[in-house]
Amino acid sequence: MVANDNARRTPLIAGNWKMNLDHLQAIAFVQKLAWNLKDAKHDFSSVEVAVFPPFTDLRSVQTLVSADKLPLAYGAQDVSAQDSGAYTGEISGAFLSQLECQYVLIGHSERRTLHGEDDEQVAAKVKAAIKHNLVPIICVGETAADLELHGPSAVPVAQLKTALSGVSNAADIVVAYEPVWAIGSGQAATPEQAEQVAAQLRNVLKETLGEDVAAKTRILYGGSVKGVNIAGFMREPNVDGALVGGASLDIDEFSSIVRFQKHVGL
Ligand code: PGA
Repeated sequence: MVANDNARRTPLIAGNWKMNLDHLQAIAFVQKLAWNLKDAKHDFSSVEVAVFPPFTDLRSVQTLVSADKLPLAYGAQDVSAQDSGAYTGEISGAFLSQLECQYVLIGHSERRTLHGEDDEQVAAKVKAAIKHNLVPIICVGETAADLELHGPSAVPVAQLKTALSGVSNAADIVVAYEPVWAIGSGQAATPEQAEQVAAQLRNVLKETLGEDVAAKTRILYGGSVKGVNIAGFMREPNVDGALVGGASLDIDEFSSIVRFQKHVGL
């Protein structure tokens, strides 16, 4: 019954560049990525592609995407919870909106662990993103210690519940399940593990935002996704795409992930 549920959601493959590629490298990269996918006759309406460059690249990416009418989406890796004011180093959602960003990553594990972002801050950022017409990609995931102590779903479920406080069911959101132990480790979760947590996260969406929102919201898996393992994740009914770090910096590898339908047998 749920097996075909994800047929109603357009898969999203999102590349999180982290602190890699300056604005000149970003222009060359995005141009090549778009050519590569067009050459391969990728159907962007069947699998959406988005890149998440550093803030300083966004204006260049915007100019290129709009001048060349590239069918790629892009977004920022973080956003301030504030609109404007004395917040040195912060970037307002209003600025990102002006740069025609569609998405913004919120609560990535590196923000949580290296910058001490807690669930309340994540919730405030989610609200700010929605206010400025950005689609938040809400990142949740358990550490290896959490996994041992509480099992796989308890922490991501609790993180998502807090992140959604204050979100109305009219808002467009994406959820990314990224087990911290799988990020950059080369040790991806199994498709079954990803599905188990994704199903729990969909239940949270159902309880907090209702059936319709839960049915249309995309849940991504992230953590050591590559061309060779994407197919397994995409076969799972509750996994609607991937948030890709390291492999998103290699055009051939990223294109192979985007073109998973060619090797997934869906
Ligand atoms: P990875 O990173 O693909 O390099 O594991 C994923 C992420 O941090 O979003």
